[in-house]
Amino acid sequence: MAAREERTFIMVKPDGVQRSLVGEIMERFEQRGYKLVGMKMMTAPKELLEMHYHELRERPFFTKLMEYMGSGPVVAMGMDVVSQGRAMLGATDPLKSAPGTIRGDYCQATGRNVCHGSDSKDSAAREIGLWFRDNELSHYTNDHHTKWV
Ligand code: TYD
Ligand code: MG
Repeated sequence: MAAREERTFIMVKPDGVQRSLVGEIMERFEQRGYKLVGMKMMTAPKELLEMHYHELRERPFFTKLMEYMGSGPVVAMGMDVVSQGRAMLGATDPLKSAPGTIRGDYCQATGRNVCHGSDSKDSAAREIGLWFRDNELSHYTNDHHTKWV
């Protein structure tokens, strides 16, 4: 990874997969220059989802969140990125997300907000460790964006 890059964890949630938004969401990140280093489709087991959203376990919406996230397959991705926070994802509540963001363009309900993105470098490292084994992450060169005119 280059100096200003960090690894983040992106996941198309079950509603995003069901609505055939996987390609569209990946394309946005790829076109922005995110480098895909790992990807898998799976229906996540309850234990994994509980670990992923561990910090929210006491919240009133937790049971519904577990049902939603386990309701169908997700597409999990590891990506290297020059950090710009979660600007492309939008706010947790899609109605507060600006048009042009993923949530602002594709959804209306917090409980069906199509895509996950890590909220910090530390959570990204934790989440990638939960969702991927080391040998499922690829190493390859993709520095074309530093070579553009
Ligand atoms: P959170 O980590 O706060 O949001 P984000 O996904 O933007 O990092 O919450 C995780 C998910 O939990 C969120 O994407 C949707 C769900 N959620 C609710 O269903 N109701 C809520 O009030 C909140 C805050 C989150
Ligand atoms: Mg979060």
